[in-house]
Amino acid sequence: MSIKVTNISKIYGEQKALNDVSFEVNTGEIVGFLGPNGAGKSTMMKILTCFIPQTSGTATVFGFDVAEQSLEVRKNVGYLPEHNPLYLDMYVKEYLEFIGGLHHLKNINSRIAEMIEMTGLQIEQKKKIGALSKGYRQRVGLAQALIHDPKVLILDEPTTGLDPNQLEEIRNLIIQVGKEKTVMLSTHIMQEVEAVCDRVIIVNNGQIVANDKTSIIQKTQTQNKQFITVEFDKETSRNSLKTITDVYDAKNISGNSWQIEALSNKDIRTDIFQFAVKNGLIVLTLHKEEQRLEDVFKHLTK
Ligand SMILES: Nc1ncnc2c1ncn2[C@@H]1O[C@H](COP(=O)(O)OP(=O)(O)O)[C@@H](O)[C@H]1O
Ligand SMILES: [Mg+2]
Repeated sequence: MSIKVTNISKIYGEQKALNDVSFEVNTGEIVGFLGPNGAGKSTMMKILTCFIPQTSGTATVFGFDVAEQSLEVRKNVGYLPEHNPLYLDMYVKEYLEFIGGLHHLKNINSRIAEMIEMTGLQIEQKKKIGALSKGYRQRVGLAQALIHDPKVLILDEPTTGLDPNQLEEIRNLIIQVGKEKTVMLSTHIMQEVEAVCDRVIIVNNGQIVANDKTSIIQKTQTQNKQFITVEFDKETSRNSLKTITDVYDAKNISGNSWQIEALSNKDIRTDIFQFAVKNGLIVLTLHKEEQRLEDVFKHLTK
């Protein structure tokens, strides 16, 4: 086990940011910490990286207690904070040398070269950080988080603010690095979790509302819920569509197209078809939508 969090709460003055949170992260996993703004994601990450103390509860990283053994924790953890604070006046290599020095690395120059290669910074390595694009600054942030070869990586919204190309590059980099490390990354982007994470922990108002394999969450949270888009050749009404067994709502999309919402264990497309026959309607199109993690997220954090 890489990370073990037990009944952690954090209160800032009067603001309760985390409320009795417990979870574990297994070695080698990439776990997504997903939640709306203000959910408590950054707070949890700051506690795990020994930047702030919890109000109550315990947390360990590789068995080291974050409050009692902070040096050991920091040796094992690489951290990319939210908004990636960097010294813009420093050159890329100069900055990595500075960070390597803080970690007392012996083989500093070879390690910098390895990091530059690993994070794809070769063509920008001679520039000042202030001259880099956001995507390349994130690479510098990842390089500094990785330079001491930590076993655990904690990345706070590593792709926020990137353009679609940069976003994909950074995600791929995280997936690649994640093959050899335990990674916990926070995000409010659902697709990111789907693209990158083995498991997702959803937080809302300082509490965990879901914690499971990404694929399982998509299934179990939405098992019985069905969204079906159907187009008829003629007019019908919301109320008559609601007479179909298990249908609880129908929304008119445009013309004679409807989005039908149902709660049922069986596929209700046959019932819709029978409804059409009974009412003298012809089904022009019929489409069952796959539930997305985005809907799960909205449902759980509303
Ligand atoms: N230093 C602080 N002082 C007071 N309240 C804070 C502080 N940091 C965070 N908070 C509050 O704690 C809650 C959780 O914040 P945060 O952990 O940053 O959430 P997230 O990263 O999920 O957006 C928010 O309501 C935020 O306003
Ligand atoms: Mg945050």
